[in-house]
Formats: sequence, structure tokens, C-alpha cells
Amino acid sequence: MKLFSGSANKSLTERVASALNIKVSPLEIHVFPDKEKRVRVIDKVLDENTVVIQPTNTLASENYMELFFIVDALKRSGAKSIIAVIPYLGYQRQDHIFRTGEAVSLEVIIKILDMIGVDKIIVFDLHSIKIQELFHIPIAHLSALKIFAEKIKQEKWNKNDTVLVSPDMGGIRRIKLLSSMLDNMPYATIEKNRDLETGKVCVTGSEGLNDFKRAIIVDDMISSGGTIAVASEFLAKRGAKEIYVFATHPVFSKEAKGILRESKALKVFVTDTIQIPEDKKFAKLQILSVASMIAKELKATNH
Ligand code: R5P
Repeated sequence: MKLFSGSANKSLTERVASALNIKVSPLEIHVFPDKEKRVRVIDKVLDENTVVIQPTNTLASENYMELFFIVDALKRSGAKSIIAVIPYLGYQRQDHIFRTGEAVSLEVIIKILDMIGVDKIIVFDLHSIKIQELFHIPIAHLSALKIFAEKIKQEKWNKNDTVLVSPDMGGIRRIKLLSSMLDNMPYATIEKNRDLETGKVCVTGSEGLNDFKRAIIVDDMISSGGTIAVASEFLAKRGAKEIYVFATHPVFSKEAKGILRESKALKVFVTDTIQIPEDKKFAKLQILSVASMIAKELKATNH
């Protein structure tokens, strides 16, 4: 198997390579003055099974284009198969039409991945499980929940004084799964509303919040940080003495760092599906790695 990395998260690719005990194969990615890119595969990949790792977070379009070019270069160089590991699948939130006249961005992306010859896709914690149905190529949908459950056990936070909280109704499936991994830890959901024009989030209610000392908010991603800020504020007002956050994808757009730092959360656990730039890190942040899960899935694919 030959493993390649796009530019978006080289450190994750290195961690996967070390878990597989192989080296990352080199790629030449030349950026022209006008920011167009030229991609070239250096090693021989004829009849080889190949893997490329590239999350497609900010700038999503840039990262997607680079991924498409890497896949094309591998295909033209005779690779036997190509697995695209896209730990964070960009544009996944536009998976259907919300208002008349909108594009279904994710469907466009899926058509391209299919057309350029990707054989399999590996992703983490999709925003909605329905997304998988849009793919015509095999997809492995992995979840960081297992890693979160291990961490929660290690911290010895137990079900007598802890509640798992989904900060929106859409996260109910996720929270139930995590609860089942933690000896049926109690769970609750917050109802939130987001203004489609301004992006501003507000809490409109909750379900299942009883007596608790500690609240663990679990989400698929943190983008602006608005959801976590209002959810933790709400939980603090409902009497939470300790609030922790677990979210798979640290998208961290806009002012997320400041918002999370100032929030009522004591610690924010995220994974390395997305590489966080140094200037977006903060003291409360802890990063858990998904590298061994990717390596395990690649081994299982018999690649
Ligand atoms: C929304 O439904 C998602 O699960 C996340 O809660 C949301 O995308 C987080 O966005 P933000 O950090 O901008 O509130």
C-alpha cells in the first residue's frame, strides 16, 4: 500500500503512517503565483493500492481541488485502487435543499469523487447518517465516539452525577450511542435555533435534564463556537458545576477560539480530523487522535 498526503493535514497522515509502519510517499505540489496548483506523483504506483488523506475543511474548495488532482495523478499513473480518506467531509451540511433555488453542494462533490475514480471513501462523524446514502462508491463511516467514551472512562466521570448533552435535536442518535458505550449514562438534548441570515444561535428548550453535577456536551463539529457557547451557558444556568465538550471536527472558523475560551466549558476535547493552526489553539483545548482508527480501517480493507 502507498500512502499519500494532501496539504490539509500532513501530521495526521504521518501518525497514520507510523501506526501502519510505512512511510508517506512523496508528492510534488507546486503552487503557481496565481495560486493554481500542479500535482505530480513521484513514486511508481503502477498496480499499487493507494491511499490519500485529505480533510476538506477551510478552505474547503481549495482542499477539494487538491484532492481531485492527487486522485487524478494517481489514476493516470496506473494505481490499481484509490482510497480517499476525507476525515472531515467539507460541504456536508449542504446535503439537501433548505430553501428553493439552492445548490446541493455535497452531491456535486460526490459526483466528482465518483467520476475521477475514487474506489472507496473513509470519513468520520458525518453531520447526518443519511449522507452515506448519497454515495455511489463504498464509504466507511467511522466515529470518534469510541475515543470519547474511552476518555470519559479514563476521567472516571460516571453516570451517577453526569449527563451527556446533545446541543441540538439532530444529535440524539449520537448521544444515545455514546450513552450505550458508557453503561447507559443519562442523556439530554437541547433545542436550538439558528438564524439562517445571521448564523446566531439561541436555545429554545431542552429535554431530559434532571439532577446532575457534570454535563458533557457532544457534537459532530465546532465551527463558530456559537452552539457550544450558548449550550454551556444554558447548562450552567441549569446548575451544571462542570461542563466539558467533546466534538469530532474542530472546524474553528471565525472567532471560535475566543468564544470557546470565554465559554463556561472547562475543557474542549476535539480530534485531529482537522489540523488546528497553532494560533487557533487555547489552554482548554485537548486533541485526541483518530490515526489508529484510520490505520485499522485501512488494514481491514486489506489494502
Ligand atoms: C449543527 O447542527 C452541528 O451539529 C453543529 O452543532 C454546528 O455545526 C456547530 O456550529 P457552530 O460552532 O457554528 O455553532
